Amino acid sequence: MNIILVAAECAPWSKTGGLGDVAGSLPKALARRGHRVMVVVPRYAEYAEPQYIGVQKKYKVDGQDMEVSYYHTYIDGVDFVFMDAAMFRHMQSDIYGGKRQDILKRMVLFCKAAVEVPWYVPCGGVCYGDGNLVFIANDWHTALLPVYLKAYYRDNGLMSFTRSILVIHNIAHQGRGPLEDFRSVGLPDHYLNLFRLYDPVGGEHFNIFAAGLKTADRVVSVSHGYAWEIKTVEGGWGLHGIINESDWKLQGIVNGIDTEEWNPENDVHLKSDGYTNYSIETLQSGKAQCKAALQKELGLPVREEVAVIGFIGRLDQQKGVDIIAEAIPWMMDQDVQLVMLGTGRQDLEELLRQFEAQHKDKVRGWVGFSVQTAHRITAGSDILLMPSRFEPCGLNQLYAMCYGTVPVVHAVGGLRDTVKPFNPFEETGLGWTFDSADASKLIHSLGSCLLTYREYKESWDGLRRRGMMQDLSWDNAAQKYEEALVAAKYQW
Ligand code: GLC
Repeated sequence: MNIILVAAECAPWSKTGGLGDVAGSLPKALARRGHRVMVVVPRYAEYAEPQYIGVQKKYKVDGQDMEVSYYHTYIDGVDFVFMDAAMFRHMQSDIYGGKRQDILKRMVLFCKAAVEVPWYVPCGGVCYGDGNLVFIANDWHTALLPVYLKAYYRDNGLMSFTRSILVIHNIAHQGRGPLEDFRSVGLPDHYLNLFRLYDPVGGEHFNIFAAGLKTADRVVSVSHGYAWEIKTVEGGWGLHGIINESDWKLQGIVNGIDTEEWNPENDVHLKSDGYTNYSIETLQSGKAQCKAALQKELGLPVREEVAVIGFIGRLDQQKGVDIIAEAIPWMMDQDVQLVMLGTGRQDLEELLRQFEAQHKDKVRGWVGFSVQTAHRITAGSDILLMPSRFEPCGLNQLYAMCYGTVPVVHAVGGLRDTVKPFNPFEETGLGWTFDSADASKLIHSLGSCLLTYREYKESWDGLRRRGMMQDLSWDNAAQKYEEALVAAKYQW
């Protein structure tokens, strides 16, 4: 099959969150299964490797001609194609930045260009062809692609055999705006209804995700739990009605992880500064060494017995940083060290700095995003905390388990799917889960976790080993995506 994944970000070139990781790694797993796979992503900066390939096109956005050209590189069986256009340049550090109208224009241009990529952009000298082709669009940013595919091409007898899948990584962001926004997407009037949505919060408005969900041939959400949650009033953020109507085409597939990048045995970030690579055989000593190195690097007292608790994530309401904040007084009465890494809302960044200032021996709040620090916290912590209010999939708990770090999570979305609760009597389970996003529940779970950490070394060891023994690679998930692709292609 020919597969073109289209996303607003793709690691390692651009990444604000898990979407970038998925766009960088799922395609490689699909290529390993024998498909011809391309990724199309905007070019936000001058990247070293991708080469200019000399195709220039013009697309109209809001009545203005916009020029685009393409860069290309081929890695691990995947053609990575970067769309270059004036609107995207210099956006590397703020890829969703700007006014609503500007973001909308960027996404309109990107989707208009991306849908024609199989025609105009030759990879290895040949174009992808539109016959045996399925697009994979991701989140609201590229939800216009299925709509354009239908409106411009399929409804006109072009690309008649091309299909599309829309993947929901986060339904909270939808590309909402006033109905006038419809003018910017450049579609015939009768398409307006696809975008029109009413909900009690936004009233009648224009909604790009809604249109994408209605037109895509299949919809994937990034976990089973999330597939179920988005059908509810609380979890659907106004789109539950549409999701329920298209239930027949919805499937939950838990993300995999890139096991080249996230593997304690050969993690490049553990090769210096006192850290060390380790495996399940050398877990005990390896992790102890990484923990000491982390404490040293962050200027915390180097003590083996103290429980190091990590948090990595955007500092926002979704990730539950405020819930951690509420639990801080309790935590500070325990023998723990808390290490937090992230950027986001200014008030929460400030909160992190305050925690650190108030508890110098116990808290480190690293405001910023550093891939290296994320790897080191994952390796050097005993426990990873994820009190997310909602979490479509979540990748950090998966990384943690691969590194023998025990997750304590709010049982929601992908966290519920992937962190089976510890059962001491059966010696099963992978971590602790709590069933509502509030501080008292977190404290209860974390307290029980800390007790096991301190008092029941064998159980603790079992937890870590079970986590490390799982196959969390993309191979399983890629097979499920293949089923969704086949369904999109042939069952409609
Ligand atoms: C979004 C979700 C996160 C998911 C990621 C990749 O960032 O919030 O839960 O893991 O997308 O699918």
